[in-house]
Amino acid sequence: MGFHRFGAVLWVCALGWGATVQAEPAPNTQELRLPADDPRTPIHVIGEDRAWMLGQMRLFLAALGQINGAIASGDRAEVARTARRVGMKIEESEPYRPSNWRSLTPPGWGEMARTVRLGFDRMADQAATASPENLNAELAEQVQICVACHQTFRVAD
Ligand code: HEC
Repeated sequence: MGFHRFGAVLWVCALGWGATVQAEPAPNTQELRLPADDPRTPIHVIGEDRAWMLGQMRLFLAALGQINGAIASGDRAEVARTARRVGMKIEESEPYRPSNWRSLTPPGWGEMARTVRLGFDRMADQAATASPENLNAELAEQVQICVACHQTFRVAD
């Protein structure tokens, strides 16, 4: 994995984190540094499956940025639209999704993936009514799940 890529994820994390600190200081004890070794569990996905999975990840990252911007500009409809686009239902209705995806991923993967999808759905549901502070806090929680999963798994070489 390129350091560049990891750096980008950390950067997004720092952004999300910065945003909550203003709203309500969330306890965050995480140290922003790379561990000396790589303890992450490899997942063995190749070809189209790998491309699909990484493509989903890039959609996640793009969604975080768009939602962050939409919260900042008070565009609630855009928050809802973008969050829904990476929510649970969208994943189920995708044109390409490996049918045996579950069997390719190790224990713990599915739960984190589900948590992040459901979190986006929750954001979409709350976009019209929640305060910007709460939406920001919600977004920061989402980023924590991205970070947790990235610390747990990697794509096998
Ligand atoms: C279920 C686990 C899991 C969750 C949840 C998750 N990721 Fe990932 N993501 C991964 C893994 C594994 C990789 C590959 C990392 C590696 O091999 O070093 C990855 C890679 C990426 C990449 C690089 C994509 C590429 O084209 O190489 C981006 C960007 C990314 N994730 C963003 C996110 C964001 C943003 C979130 C949260 C909204 C998120 N991910 C949630 C597991 C996850």
